[in-house]
Amino acid sequence: MNNETLLKKFKTPFYVFDLDELRSRIEYIKSMLPENIGLCYAVKANTFVISEAAKTADRLEVCSEGEFEICEACKVPVEKIVLSGVYKTPEFIERVVSSYENIGIYTIESLSQYELLRYLGEKYKRQLKVLVRVTTDNQFGVTEKELKEILRDNNGYINVKGIQYFSGTQKKSIKKLKRELKYVGELIRELSEECSFECKELEYGTGSPVTYFPEESFNEEEYFKELSGLLSEFPRELKITLEMGRSIAASCGKYFTKIVDMKRNGAGNFAIADGGMNHIVYYGQSMAMKHPYFSLYPERGEGKTESYNICGSLCTINDIIVKDMPLTDLKPGDVMIFKNTGAYCMTEGISLFLSRELPAVINVAGGEACKVREHIKTSGINMAKYKK
Ligand SMILES: Cc1ncc(COP(=O)(O)O)c(C=O)c1O
Repeated sequence: MNNETLLKKFKTPFYVFDLDELRSRIEYIKSMLPENIGLCYAVKANTFVISEAAKTADRLEVCSEGEFEICEACKVPVEKIVLSGVYKTPEFIERVVSSYENIGIYTIESLSQYELLRYLGEKYKRQLKVLVRVTTDNQFGVTEKELKEILRDNNGYINVKGIQYFSGTQKKSIKKLKRELKYVGELIRELSEECSFECKELEYGTGSPVTYFPEESFNEEEYFKELSGLLSEFPRELKITLEMGRSIAASCGKYFTKIVDMKRNGAGNFAIADGGMNHIVYYGQSMAMKHPYFSLYPERGEGKTESYNICGSLCTINDIIVKDMPLTDLKPGDVMIFKNTGAYCMTEGISLFLSRELPAVINVAGGEACKVREHIKTSGINMAKYKK
């Protein structure tokens, strides 16, 4: 669906998520990995594409009650769900354990999460499959010592299948992946020798990167080749699943925002957009100095090119989407279309600031565009309501 048709049909600001692109992207990533490697979509990256991702990805990583409710509404097969995350309420976990016999797998990030699952497994007489997340020395996961305690304590209701490991996002360095996989491999051997634990599964979050700015260099083909080489060193009996959010979802998204006002002063040219930094967050964007991949609608030919600071509609000096962007014949009514905005952009923004509306969301598939979320007013959320 072309930009003109979308802009005729829908009011800015909005996001467009192309489900065909999402499917191709998942298929591409799978084709670049050894065929025994599974792919798990971390739904936190974009919950609007869950139904499509569930068709092609082997698993979905779900980290909160809210994400789980979205999966329920989308009728995601629960066997595909990895119920993960640093905290969920005991009431929620009890609802899941009691209502669903066949959740794919649970992760354990602390001894208290372990205790809770152990208790619920026993209460509902269900054997729960789990992965234990190993910490990278932050608030996530358990230490090796705690992991060994869990393995020794097994009560029959917890079936530890293996480990989960994730150290951070936007990791370009293959050397870092090599170090991490070496550590994980050694840990698996140690667990076998010390605890007679046969690790059957490794769920590894690669933190695979996305290129947001033209000046960034990243050879993705080479990256996947090297990653595949590292994964091939593990025994074939070990089921390996790679967790990815950003790398799967980024390319399917575009964000449309209209220029609504323009001014010039001692600091240069300013163009005000009807969206802003509350709707669009690029990882590692420093003071808007980098120029992300974007296009301008209508398309420009020859003309007078000037440098513009593109600012959003929030009343804060920080609301600069990009600084010093060279643009040709810019005028109010032009639309800026930012690319690679399918992951995190719409959820990491400070969307409640200034009580502005949330952008609409348009999903596109097979040439059809469908509004899957209206613009949503936030004034009701930001208002004190006294009961009479
Ligand atoms: C455990 C886990 N796996 C996977 C991901 C997805 O990371 P990315 O979007 O970098 O692929 C995250 C992100 O926070 C995570 O916490």
